Amino acid sequence: MDDAQITHTYSSSTESGSPADDSDNSQLLIGESLIPVRERKHAGTTVVTIDGLLKEPLRLKEDLKQGCGGQLWPAGLLLSRYMLEEHATDLVGKTIVELGAGGGLVGLAVARGCQTDKPIYITDQEPMMQLMQDNISLNDLSTKVKPALLDWGTPSPAEIPEHPEIVLAADCVYFEPAFPLLISTLQGLLGSDTICYFCFKRRRRADLRCIKMIKKLFNVTEINRFSTCEGYNRENLFLYKIQSRQKSKE
Ligand SMILES: C[S@@+](CC[C@H](N)C(=O)[O-])C[C@H]1O[C@@H](n2cnc3c(N)ncnc32)[C@H](O)[C@@H]1O
Repeated sequence: MDDAQITHTYSSSTESGSPADDSDNSQLLIGESLIPVRERKHAGTTVVTIDGLLKEPLRLKEDLKQGCGGQLWPAGLLLSRYMLEEHATDLVGKTIVELGAGGGLVGLAVARGCQTDKPIYITDQEPMMQLMQDNISLNDLSTKVKPALLDWGTPSPAEIPEHPEIVLAADCVYFEPAFPLLISTLQGLLGSDTICYFCFKRRRRADLRCIKMIKKLFNVTEINRFSTCEGYNRENLFLYKIQSRQKSKE
């Protein structure tokens, strides 16, 4: 990742609904290709190439006013990198939905850098809708990417596929009361042929309980593609492939 182009704020707030580490390392400065430098930052636009994988960079508006999804997070950057490196050519014909998309980084990166031919739905709660729309427009991706309101634990909106072939979720485990809601959404959305690529950042011990529950209810395979990356371990990032227990094919 182009360090010169990427600087991000990482909230150390402990208010409910904002990711914050157990440890006091949430304001550490980290310079590494996978993990952006952390420093305080005002709302603005960030240019992202995902380690140069995107020939045409994404421009992403970041603004924390409406919530923690208004900034880029390492899990989203890692999941984007994984999708661009491993799934650039095998998503044709697949329906794709991103959960807890925030500003839409992962879905937009897939739309820009992977071959796709169906709309990619980036979803989040109401306060994130405008930012998602702004980022879609900023990158001229409105024919490929659609924003949708999907509040975990509530029925999916009619416009998104009932059981998409691909579900993307980055950094959606950070707020304990939302764990059962997220799990319930995964249960509803993952059909027998759905693969969910799920990038998890472990911050607190409670986060592991969510993963444990997911492992109990679904088939979960860890993707070790990045496990030797220094930033991956330092940031406590884990990448999983999650499938329904009734999956019919690999
Ligand atoms: C830490 S941010 C991650 C954003 C983005 N995926 C990324 O990696 O940069 C978590 C996202 O989950 C969303 N979220 C939290 N609770 C949610 C819920 N109940 N339903 C839908 N989205 C939710 C937040 O609005 C936020 O955008």
